[in-house]
Amino acid sequence: MTNKPVGSNNQMESDVYYPSPEVVAAAHVKEYETLYKRSLEDPEGFWGERAEELEWFQKWDKVLDDSDAPFFKWFVGGKTNIVHNAIDRHLKTYRKNKLALIWAGEPGDVRTFSYFALNRNVSKFANVLKSMGVKKGDIVTIYLPRLPEQVIAMLACAKIGAAHSVVYGGFSVEALAERIEDAQSRVLITADGGWLRGKIVHLKDIADEAMARQPTVETCIVVRRTGQEIYMEAGRDYWYDDLMSLPIASPICETEPMDAEDMLFILYTSGTTGRPKGVVHTHGGYMVYTYTTLKYVFDIKDEDRWWCAADPGWITGHSYIVYSPLINGATSFMYEGAPTHPYPNRWWQMIEKYGITILYTAPTAIRGLMRFGDAWPNRHNLGSLRLLGTVGEPINPEAWKWYHTVIGKERCPIMDTWWQTETGGFMITPLPITPLKPGSATRPFFGIDVDVVNDDGQPVPPGEEGYLVVKTPWPGMLRTIYKDPDRYREQYWSKFGTMYQTGDSARKDEDGYVWVIGRMDDVIKVSGYRLGTAEVESALVSHPDVSEAAAIGLPHELKGNAIHAYVILRAGVEGSEKLAETLRQHVAHEMGPIAKPETITFVDGLPKTRSGKIMRRLLKARALGLPEGDTSTLEQ
Ligand code: WTA
Repeated sequence: MTNKPVGSNNQMESDVYYPSPEVVAAAHVKEYETLYKRSLEDPEGFWGERAEELEWFQKWDKVLDDSDAPFFKWFVGGKTNIVHNAIDRHLKTYRKNKLALIWAGEPGDVRTFSYFALNRNVSKFANVLKSMGVKKGDIVTIYLPRLPEQVIAMLACAKIGAAHSVVYGGFSVEALAERIEDAQSRVLITADGGWLRGKIVHLKDIADEAMARQPTVETCIVVRRTGQEIYMEAGRDYWYDDLMSLPIASPICETEPMDAEDMLFILYTSGTTGRPKGVVHTHGGYMVYTYTTLKYVFDIKDEDRWWCAADPGWITGHSYIVYSPLINGATSFMYEGAPTHPYPNRWWQMIEKYGITILYTAPTAIRGLMRFGDAWPNRHNLGSLRLLGTVGEPINPEAWKWYHTVIGKERCPIMDTWWQTETGGFMITPLPITPLKPGSATRPFFGIDVDVVNDDGQPVPPGEEGYLVVKTPWPGMLRTIYKDPDRYREQYWSKFGTMYQTGDSARKDEDGYVWVIGRMDDVIKVSGYRLGTAEVESALVSHPDVSEAAAIGLPHELKGNAIHAYVILRAGVEGSEKLAETLRQHVAHEMGPIAKPETITFVDGLPKTRSGKIMRRLLKARALGLPEGDTSTLEQ
């Protein structure tokens, strides 16, 4: 890439980085404007063509049905199964013997799966699930560390038409219990443990406690990873390996034909209020959308080794570790552990060893590795890399430049992809041909009509901050909130009617580049992980010493944001350092270590509106020493 500073070309004051002729020559898409215009003018034509690149058991009657907006339907009348496109169709080609998955364990063990082997494992496990009574429409909860079995379990569910609900392995007891409860899962898949920073994460203990709180689980399948002694309840808990060696685990299993709009998975995510919501994605639209976005944005080719360093427990992993790389017939690399274990060169060493060509990660990981200096990456040959990517939060220009210079050696464009659990795949993102401005996710993807608007839904002038909205539907969009269509309407469509509200604020510059600023609601992105203030607060008040709590996010150098909590104790309880630590541990136990507040401040009261809502905005302004803004609704 060449760097041509363009001076003050826009309000955001940024250098522009142009892709090199070699990168442009290799790209799937060579021109943006014409195709983008066409995709908005004729979305059904555009998406219909993309869908035709994949296999269907029965073709759709209509690409988009918007008669019941905002409950949009895509590829109506079509029949397919995402697993048919992710695995089955490749078995008829040379890809049968190609590596689908390369997995590296933290202690140094390695496992690889060809498409043939992946199919064998998925089919066997699909038969195991069937033998446990799992059928089309059921929801299976998966609570695993980053292991191949996580991918296998997700695909096995989809293959037989069951939906999966994957709970991130870093979540803890209450987070898992409430997700099991909402999905009413009868089957839970977990592991004896996982390796992280040289230590065992005791997943089965957490699962046992969650199952005790939510007795809906009748069968718990346990993957053996760490090998330590764990409690196994007779009649409920079974070892994965034992089940896979039984005759019922036949390697032949038909892939269930599904309606395009049948549920593929639910994934719980944090919203503005209350409990996490189950975002629903489907077989047809999600399949077409993730396939197309990965193909165009990361320019996936057969010879690529793609590494999305997220966790399959979050949307990034669902879409870009599991489904879209397989649909594209790529080789996906997956790593179990921490980037710095045993040394901060772990990632760079693996890029060299496995010849990774594309690395996709989060700004927080880049910042975390950057602080160990250039010597660690410089000890390795990173010449196999051709593209880089980031996701999860705005990337600060300093981290962008380090990633670009030290990791990408100024050769590799950085795809800063803005999207959400709800959107299924990338929404605002560069293509390899796009001139880049560090810190901007650049322009919308094909078929995506985004804008920045004011309170009345009117577009704001370039450079002004406003609400980021999406004006037309797209195939990868969530279909509803599981069991709660009202909340779906309320959360995404109540403010601007026909425009999808993202919950983010943003600016557009004069070139139409979008600069995402951050969440406008009570969602906090901690190290790129999405958490809700409400969940942290409910974890805090579940402790007997706590009467009320408020959580806010404040800027943090490495994590992007960190959680800070304000706590009112019950009468007679004294605040102390020790109690603050106890409460932090309590949140980690209930929600997960990522939700542990950075600080806990004991207070006598919390600023509230007259209707009793905590004014977190005010707490934040006070903590940052900023003006308090409009306090007219404050209860005096
Ligand atoms: C934020 C993750 C700036 C944003 C895929 C969004 C980003 C939320 C970017 C969704 C980016 C994601 N630049 N902000 N490139 N990507 N975000 O559901 O606030 O975990 O609303 O999905 O992450 O988080 P979620």
